[in-house]
Amino acid sequence: MSNLLVLGTQWGDEGKGKVVDFLAPAFDLIARYQGGHNAGHTVYLSGKKVVLHLIPSGILHPGKICVIGNGLVFSPQAFFKELSDLRGLGVKVDEKRLVLSRAAQVIMPYHPLMEKISESARGQKMIGTTCRGIGPCYEDKIARWGIRVGDLLEPAVLREKIEDNLRIKNKIFEAFGFPPFSTEEIYREYADYGEKLAPFVQDVSVFLHQQIKAGKKILFEGAQGALLDVDFGTYPYVTSSSCTAGGVSTGLGLSPKQVQAVLGITKVYTTRVGSGPFPTELKDETGATIARKGDEFGATTGRPRRCGWFDAVAVRYACRINGVDVLALTKPDVLEELREIKACFRYRYKGSVLTDFPSDPWILEKVEPEYRTFPVWSPSIHRLKNFEELPSGFLDYLHWIEDTLEVKVALISTGVGREDMIYLKDEMKKILGEKAEFLGRE
Ligand code: IMP
Repeated sequence: MSNLLVLGTQWGDEGKGKVVDFLAPAFDLIARYQGGHNAGHTVYLSGKKVVLHLIPSGILHPGKICVIGNGLVFSPQAFFKELSDLRGLGVKVDEKRLVLSRAAQVIMPYHPLMEKISESARGQKMIGTTCRGIGPCYEDKIARWGIRVGDLLEPAVLREKIEDNLRIKNKIFEAFGFPPFSTEEIYREYADYGEKLAPFVQDVSVFLHQQIKAGKKILFEGAQGALLDVDFGTYPYVTSSSCTAGGVSTGLGLSPKQVQAVLGITKVYTTRVGSGPFPTELKDETGATIARKGDEFGATTGRPRRCGWFDAVAVRYACRINGVDVLALTKPDVLEELREIKACFRYRYKGSVLTDFPSDPWILEKVEPEYRTFPVWSPSIHRLKNFEELPSGFLDYLHWIEDTLEVKVALISTGVGREDMIYLKDEMKKILGEKAEFLGRE
């Protein structure tokens, strides 16, 4: 049995929370390697909606250890709020179950303001970020101004770093008409976080290597989606982290060889929050129906998601750059209210056929998708649990997706509940081995 990476193959919101929640029983640890509390992973527990932003979704399974890697940008406020929400739900969370990297970057109070200034300076071309300070925190990391979790535990270092940052940043804030931040106030608040966080803080790379040596298995939980990756997404309309497979290694301090299998999550239509090119977007009644039926509102910001048809060119690209071994298909039941379904299999650009996803946004903005049309299947597959019960119309769509992407489907989510899942044991066995037998029984 292998360590497994689970990631989104579109622009996020593919249903990672639910898939991770389903797979978690087969693993010992669940580790996040990038992003921050811009993510929103939704899980339904006994009919109750739980949205996790920062702590890995595996925390809902007793006995599993969750890890927040160095590749994340960490908001102490979001962390403590989530901790208290989880405890309110009766979930036991302590330092034995939750490990935080010393080297994770800390989101500071000035980061959201930097983001506000940057977004408004872009005017019409704004990225439409989640306004959580994610981008500016990563900017500071790369510019080497960042404050890391380890610094919060070292008062003298922390004070000096805040002072150094504010020496430059306050000048910028004042130039834009905002009052300066006080070193002392930030220092007091963050030194206090440091004390409270101390029990959770570890060298995550050392910790994970020990766990691997002891034979433990890790589920790597991606946040956002491949098309929001800072290098491979629709730049500049992306998030600021490495959502793709390469991020696991740099975001946790592990060799790439530790990612032994990759499961890509694909919604059978496409959504996107924020700005940026979206070739198969539906700005009509059909898009509105999908949004309503699929409850397509941002789990973090509540913003309505833009909806469109499935885009095989984009997902094939995501499968290629991540080495996706198997797929999880989500939300097929949402399409059942429509009269017909379309799926894009290639683009046309200035008269030529494009089968590879272009990296330039100005090309992507102008491509014309070519569609294959499918009738809507009947009867409904909502809440089905067995592959054998799936109607042939749905199987035609599923097999077309598999053939077009050249990847087999191993999981099909048929509703929001934990138990609304069909899994193809033979496909899962190829990546999980004998542990595949135990899934879906909890
Ligand atoms: P940021 O991550 O807040 O900087 O936002 C950058 C872009 O990524 C915006 O278009 C956001 O809407 C999008 N984004 C960030 N996190 C998520 C997510 O978890 N799901 C979907 N879109 C996201």
